[in-house]
Amino acid sequence: MRASQLDVFAVLSLRNLHVKRGSRVILHDISLSLPAGKTLAVVGESGAGKSTLIAAILSLLKPSAGDVTWNAAPTNRARPALVMQEPRAAFNPVCSLRRSVMEPVVAQGLTLKEGRLERLCAGLELPLELLERRPEQVSIGQAQRAGILRALIPSPPLVLFDEPLSALDAVTQKHTARLISELQQEEGFAALIVTHDLGYAVAHSDQIAVLKDGRIEEIADAKTFATNPQSAYCKSLRYAAIALGALEGAA
Ligand SMILES: Nc1ncnc2c1ncn2[C@@H]1O[C@H](COP(=O)(O)OP(=O)(O)OP(=O)(O)O)[C@@H](O)[C@H]1O
Ligand SMILES: [Mg+2]
Repeated sequence: MRASQLDVFAVLSLRNLHVKRGSRVILHDISLSLPAGKTLAVVGESGAGKSTLIAAILSLLKPSAGDVTWNAAPTNRARPALVMQEPRAAFNPVCSLRRSVMEPVVAQGLTLKEGRLERLCAGLELPLELLERRPEQVSIGQAQRAGILRALIPSPPLVLFDEPLSALDAVTQKHTARLISELQQEEGFAALIVTHDLGYAVAHSDQIAVLKDGRIEEIADAKTFATNPQSAYCKSLRYAAIALGALEGAA
């Protein structure tokens, strides 16, 4: 099958993408396709280029070659959303969290279903009164969950999550991951999730792409990756995750 046929149902397609920062090429020849409603996890060590990939998808960085395309259903008017790696970075320091959370809804002229804010806050274990505070007046983990709220509230067709659970304790990670999955099932958004946690990637994604030094080392179905990765590098990632207990019950 040709790439163009594969891309017909894709919400997001990257073709032969090269991205530089300054004079250095950070991403080399990246091709990926994310179908509607599906989840792609991108894993890789620090500095591999994961956040650069997200920046290129959102046109915050211009590719030096290749292209990024995304298509949403005509009925979904919301733009792709981002959960930033640095929990407070999405928030205006002088405004209440509520104002920043609602900013994409207001800016895109969207109307929320009644009770949506309350429902998402409950799922994310964020008391409503907390939204009246400024970002510096909440914990990093609360700011991270408010960042997830901000991304999900407009019902976007595509959500890019950059290490969305990194500041949360293990129990809150589980609750939050479950909320994201439930909402995804109900609303059908596609998700690209950058994570260091292979267990999370295996349990919550359809496909896993491993990025190493700015290149895709391997892409596989999540369950296949958990049991039988192909490259020596991916085998070593799997063994490390097993040693940490991160793959228990995930595959
Ligand atoms: N603004 C910048 N200018 C120049 N180089 C940069 C810039 N930001 C990142 N880099 C470099 O680009 C490479 C990829 O960085 P990137 O932030 O995409 O990594 P990452 O995979 O997201 O890592 P982490 O897991 O630590 O967040 C790194 O070598 C980094 O030093
Ligand atoms: Mg990063």
